[in-house]
Amino acid sequence: MSPKIISLFNQAGGTGKTTLTQNLGYHLAKRRHRVLLVDIDPQASLTAFMGIDPFNLEQTIADALLKDIPIPIHHDIYGVDLVPSNILLSAAEVQLHSAIAREWRLKQALSPIQDSYDFILIDCPPTLGIFSILSLVASTHVLVPIQTHFKAFLGVELLLDSIRQVRERINKELTILGVVPMMHESRTSQGKVILDGIYEQLGPITSIFPAIPRAVTFADASMERKPVAIYEPKHPSVRILESIAQSLEEIQ
Ligand SMILES: Nc1ncnc2c1ncn2[C@@H]1O[C@H](COP(=O)(O)OP(=O)(O)OP(=O)(O)O)[C@@H](O)[C@H]1O
Ligand SMILES: [Mg+2]
Repeated sequence: MSPKIISLFNQAGGTGKTTLTQNLGYHLAKRRHRVLLVDIDPQASLTAFMGIDPFNLEQTIADALLKDIPIPIHHDIYGVDLVPSNILLSAAEVQLHSAIAREWRLKQALSPIQDSYDFILIDCPPTLGIFSILSLVASTHVLVPIQTHFKAFLGVELLLDSIRQVRERINKELTILGVVPMMHESRTSQGKVILDGIYEQLGPITSIFPAIPRAVTFADASMERKPVAIYEPKHPSVRILESIAQSLEEIQ
């Protein structure tokens, strides 16, 4: 069966894209799926979160996008494989602008290896630039982490619109899975009001996955280069991440 290729995308910064990519990847692998994570952000946060020094890499995703070489893969980091990135990817952005059929470069780079995986999760940068487009073109699905605050939903309609444009123009297969409310203040009544607002505003237009609570454990775990389930197995978020991973098994 061909893999589910899921872009974790939101053009807003700091919504938890990288954190969710890393943790869902871990849970899917623990549930016995073959998982590849792809870092297509020049900030290389995912590469760093996975314990790989972005400054010390012979090859990154940039090489595969520009030079037609096999996509570089680091194997078995807590059960998950990784295509790393680093800051050199921002130079590739300029070169890609004049490249022929550039929108297809990631899809092409993944195609020789994709059947070795059940899930490929792509961590997009916080822009609607070329790398997010490459990612959406290569994907079968897109998942949108949003911050749980009052204005969170303002950008989401615009964002869903951009995704729909990619779908109409270039990737008819792309399915929007929905939004994952991140950094939810689960202990305050204000947090509940905000989450209710998100359900009210976005419920009619897309699916809403279970909210991930705000917790310092997430920052601590990523500093330790570990998924939360390894860093603090009893943390309440672990169960929620597991349930989202489980629901990804059911998508078509
Ligand atoms: N549920 C959470 N609770 C508290 N902090 C969190 C949570 N999820 C992520 N964080 C922290 O928030 C920061 C931003 O998260 P992350 O890097 O995953 O976001 P991002 O959307 O990938 O950012 P960027 O847009 O820059 O790529 C990180 O320091 C991360 O550790
Ligand atoms: Mg990120």
